[in-house]
Amino acid sequence: MIKKIEELRKEIENLQAETAEAAEQLRIKYLSKKGAVSKLFDEFKTIPNEQKRDVGQALNTLKTFVKDRIIILKEGFSNSESESVDMDLTLPGISFELGGRHPLSIVRNEIIEIFARLGFTVAEGPEIEDDWHVFSALNFPEEHPARDMQDTFFIAQNPDVLLRTHTSSVQVREMEKTKPPIRTIFPGRVFRNEAISARAHCIFHQVEGLFIDEDVSFADLKQTLLYFAKEMFGEETKIRLRPSYFPFTEPSAEMDISCSLCGGKGCNVCKYTGWVEILGCGMVDPNVLENSNIDNKKYTGFAFGMGIERITMLRYQIKDIRLFFENDIRFLNQFKSVD
Ligand code: PHE
Repeated sequence: MIKKIEELRKEIENLQAETAEAAEQLRIKYLSKKGAVSKLFDEFKTIPNEQKRDVGQALNTLKTFVKDRIIILKEGFSNSESESVDMDLTLPGISFELGGRHPLSIVRNEIIEIFARLGFTVAEGPEIEDDWHVFSALNFPEEHPARDMQDTFFIAQNPDVLLRTHTSSVQVREMEKTKPPIRTIFPGRVFRNEAISARAHCIFHQVEGLFIDEDVSFADLKQTLLYFAKEMFGEETKIRLRPSYFPFTEPSAEMDISCSLCGGKGCNVCKYTGWVEILGCGMVDPNVLENSNIDNKKYTGFAFGMGIERITMLRYQIKDIRLFFENDIRFLNQFKSVD
């Protein structure tokens, strides 16, 4: 009897069904009242009592096995059958929500692309810096207010460990490790201990630019920035350089662009002046070159630095800097299709 059970099990293991109907026929063949398995159960009644325990167990296992096997065979068809009944193939599919880039990333990438067309490469530096790279090498006098606890986030007790307040620190790092010519921009996050308002934040982003070579002049700086302004804000954009002061550039300037909103006529974005400030710049101070081991008799260069938030706010007419950091999906969704 055990032998018969095993044979039947082997037979069932190899069962195949081409259609749902064929699978049903198999069920009848094995499991109906007159089926092969039921016959074995009939036979079971006639065997000697001492064999009943083992044979009974084997029979029950066989029955479960056949049932499972037939269910599996039927499953292959039941799916496609129910699909054709329940599914309307003319309905639109379920679409996946695609994310979008953050407006600051969109503008940062655009700045990188514009300068790449002029041959600028991209490099980055650390956010946690030392005094040398953020201040000393950049010609900041000992008593300069920018070093003050009010502006700079110092980490731990050691005043030599701080969060960089500008990306100019990466200028120094680049000059220390590369020989001129250098033509690189440095995008990155900066930190200042400022009260958060609609116009200022304690964390923001800058892009720094540095060009060092023989015979680099202020005219090169001006032409580079004019090209940038036109690419970023439109061909009709004008620029204006106003004398300014930074410890690490001499001469230094701040650059305004003609207001992209009113075209220079005057509106509340440009406070009715027709101009908006977008960056600081100047010729790299010879002391800075010397501090970074670059021969200041042979080489000259220019540098500039701009806030990405500021450029983005002008570009998209965003009135409050805090919106960039709140991750409000209603704000971010508006930039989805931009890039
Ligand atoms: N580091 C200056 C700032 O944060 C900007 C700047 C960069 C000015 C390079 C001149 C040259 O305001």
